[in-house]
Amino acid sequence: MRIWFNRGFSLAPISAAMIAADPTLEVYASVGEGMPTYEGPTETWVEPNLPAAQYVEWAREMVIARGIDILIPTRYRKALSQADLPCRVELPGSIETLALLEDKYEFAQAIEEEPFHLLTTPVATTWQLESSIFTFPQVHGEDAEPCVKPRKGVNGLGFWHLTKVNPTSHLLNPDERKIRVDLYLDAMRAQEVDGPIDELVLMEFLPGPEISFDILAHHGRLLKAVARTKQENGRQRIQSEHPLKDAAARLIELFKLHGVVNVQFRKAKDGSWKALEINSRPAGGVVYGEKVGARIIADWAGLLTGRLTPDSIDRRSIDTEIAISSTVLEVS
Ligand SMILES: Nc1ncnc2c1ncn2[C@@H]1O[C@H](COP(=O)(O)OP(=O)(O)O)[C@@H](O)[C@H]1O
Ligand SMILES: [Mg+2]
Repeated sequence: MRIWFNRGFSLAPISAAMIAADPTLEVYASVGEGMPTYEGPTETWVEPNLPAAQYVEWAREMVIARGIDILIPTRYRKALSQADLPCRVELPGSIETLALLEDKYEFAQAIEEEPFHLLTTPVATTWQLESSIFTFPQVHGEDAEPCVKPRKGVNGLGFWHLTKVNPTSHLLNPDERKIRVDLYLDAMRAQEVDGPIDELVLMEFLPGPEISFDILAHHGRLLKAVARTKQENGRQRIQSEHPLKDAAARLIELFKLHGVVNVQFRKAKDGSWKALEINSRPAGGVVYGEKVGARIIADWAGLLTGRLTPDSIDRRSIDTEIAISSTVLEVS
């Protein structure tokens, strides 16, 4: 069988893990122009930079020419799933659900009834941000601190903890993501002179730790999960059993998710756990679990091709620690 992933994170090791689990599989990955390609997939294609409708026609030609059986898109999911391509197009949820999960305010609203819900305020103007920060202690408690991030962000970009630090602290130590409230507001006000700001969400800063779950799901049922926790020593703990697994399963059920997705939780000051977001695609870090035998990706391949059923997947228990090291690669 032939599987094709367009874009996405860590496609090379994900493809390699699928092929290792089933050597009869051919797994193709496509990347944007100018992006590095790595060993792992059967072949890596460079995608043309096209608007949705033309991209779909290019994809149709590729599917036919290469005899693709299953397309797993990250880019142009809606257009590709509605295009009636001559192959199966796998999505992790309905188009409506996928759009909802991209929007951090709508996601928070949708889980309002759950114990792991985090009170989240949408912000579209500097004035709204200023007034929400003014009432923040009344709403969230006297010692709660605010943080902001883009309403539709990815990769942690734009996250800032609004707190009492030196006025230049964010310039000297940007990685700490801490900025004084008045300086953040001044920057937003200056930005607004050029036009509307990108919408934000405002919420309580959670001190952590943070847990990232890689999950293999089947039509709303969590089949197996791997919890990854960053340790203070820089390593990651990888566990197949975790106290938050039921909460993760609830999210999978609520949004009827399917395939491999990633769910993130973070611990609040009062010791409760809150859901930060669901990534409706495999997280780059899914390959860490794969290294220690989690078989999230390997079994996903089996389910996609029908070699495995939800009841015949591997369910070995894992509790281990990993360290990450970097290597130098010549890429061109
Ligand atoms: N309420 C919060 N409290 C503390 N840290 C947060 C909070 N929200 C986000 N973060 C930090 O910012 C990172 C990115 O936020 P997240 O909601 O996962 O968005 P994305 O990954 O899509 O950018 C998180 O992994 C976490 O480290
Ligand atoms: Mg995230």
